[in-house]
Amino acid sequence: KPRVLSGIQPTADSFHLGNFLGALQQWVLLQDEFDAFYFIPDLHAITVPQEPKQLRQRTLRAVAQLLALGIDPERSTLFVQSQVPEHAELAWVLNCITGFGEAGRMTQFKDKATRQGSEHASVGLFTYPVLMAADILLYRPQRVPVGEDQRQHLELARDLAARFNSRFGKTFVVPEAQIIKGTAKIYDLQDPTSKMSKSGPTPAGLINLLDDPKVSAKKIKSAVTDNEREIRFDPENKPGVSNLLTIQSALSGKSVDELVAGYEGRGYGDLKADTAEVLAEFVTPLRAKVDGYLSDRAELDRILAAGTDRAREVAGRTLGQVYEKVGFLTRG
Ligand code: TYM
Repeated sequence: KPRVLSGIQPTADSFHLGNFLGALQQWVLLQDEFDAFYFIPDLHAITVPQEPKQLRQRTLRAVAQLLALGIDPERSTLFVQSQVPEHAELAWVLNCITGFGEAGRMTQFKDKATRQGSEHASVGLFTYPVLMAADILLYRPQRVPVGEDQRQHLELARDLAARFNSRFGKTFVVPEAQIIKGTAKIYDLQDPTSKMSKSGPTPAGLINLLDDPKVSAKKIKSAVTDNEREIRFDPENKPGVSNLLTIQSALSGKSVDELVAGYEGRGYGDLKADTAEVLAEFVTPLRAKVDGYLSDRAELDRILAAGTDRAREVAGRTLGQVYEKVGFLTRG
């Protein structure tokens, strides 16, 4: 079977709608045809300050959410990054073939560093995309399902794979980003020209999957739209309305065209009410399942232990070849 790999950070109590529609919904589907590796990048999380107790809790919550969304630990390898030391070990080697300028061109680093004030940004934040390349290349996946905002990081991983291969001989697979067209970028409800993100301008623009659906309904009802009345899909001129159509379409399985046809002669109030309703239908059972997984810590630990073993088997093999190729002594 061809392989896929992806990760999602444990930096909030809940995944948000952008995470689900941009990335996680594909993770679930890809399990059928691919040998899937999915993990929680906690090493990435500490590139910005984290409260230790909260990080541990959020890591468990992230695992519970993936299981509740349908990641099946029998079919997919599910693990936490810090439990597989090969990630940090390969990252070091890749750091040594990455140009300083090359790393400095990563736009997400520049954005985050600006937000923190560049004096306070950590060296870890600078080298974050190289660790991400290590995450990927260790498992030699053909595809990496992510949202649009990870495209540049994927490009770096591809460049580093090709560079290592040409310098030391074929070792890595050069992976492809797998980005779903319609939902690659879900926008903030209050500022529908910037992406939905937990660090957005106001919490009112962010839909958390685990929030009470009544809270999310309020946010949807106060979503920024425009001064027209017509419901049509036009991301350029009607970003707010188009974002709601994208969200409702993805959650309901109905096409955007079908939705637009059904809204002829109706107003934004209807569009918002229906979107809130399909969201509630989706999150209500999900919230219950997450609580179920979280109430059985022993089971979560068992799942992670099995995932860690399987991940280390694959990662260890790749790292062994890398160490040999760069000229390190064989480990006794
Ligand atoms: P993270 O944790 O920020 O996001 C997880 C996934 O959600 C996608 N996403 C979105 N998609 C559409 N619209 C949005 N508004 C939106 N916001 C987030 C992201 O593109 C991502 O796919 N660096 C990664 C984590 C990572 C990783 C990896 C991913 C670490 N190592 C190796 C793939 C392979 C990140 O911070 O994603």
